[in-house]
Amino acid sequence: MVKVAPSILASDFSKLGEEVRDVINGGADYIHVDVMDGHFVPNISIGVPVVEALKPVSNVPLDVHLMIENPDQYIPQFANAGADIITVHIEASPHIHRTIQLIKDQGVRAGVAINPGTPVEMIAPILADVDLVLLMTVNPGFGGQSFIDRVTDKIQDVYKSAQEINPTVEIEVDGGINEETAKLCREAGANVLVAGSSVYKSEQRNLAIEAIRG
Ligand code: DX5
Ligand code: ZN
Repeated sequence: MVKVAPSILASDFSKLGEEVRDVINGGADYIHVDVMDGHFVPNISIGVPVVEALKPVSNVPLDVHLMIENPDQYIPQFANAGADIITVHIEASPHIHRTIQLIKDQGVRAGVAINPGTPVEMIAPILADVDLVLLMTVNPGFGGQSFIDRVTDKIQDVYKSAQEINPTVEIEVDGGINEETAKLCREAGANVLVAGSSVYKSEQRNLAIEAIRG
């Protein structure tokens, strides 16, 4: 029922393929790929060539989180590279229905993300049309930040609306997720848990993944 999506942002990039295989062997359901452009968020990470390189390495879906401006411009490239899920930020998508349709037209599952400071009402008009809602539990840009616990109220709100409008939508959380915060998120209704540091910095990654899954 609950899925765990390790974020490769916290992995050792000098041996990325191995790092991906390791968490898949440890039980990862998705591989979470954080794409940052230095504009939407104050950091630059990785892009299309890395998704392309990881595609043959991963036998679980590649969950691509675009923290970028003008996502429409890059969606076809990420889809061609092998993204299975593409999530865009509502704050970076002024024409969200068009953007979500563009993702679906590529044959890829579509997600919408919201920052901790953005009210859930912002995504209400698109909730029926997405496959996944990503609630950020930190301000995006960096791994290893502390969980903002007030976001659990937003998870509950999205869960309630989703029950009525789109009961199969996945509710994903991202940022500061560890064994304890994962429990709060699961109780609030989240069913996909992204975890970077708490999985990759753990001595026993399979146990960390299982603890997060609960
Ligand atoms: C934050 C990213 C997250 C990040 C999570 O901007 O979207 O996916 O990698 O890292 P942790 O789990 O270390 O907070
Ligand atoms: Zn992310």
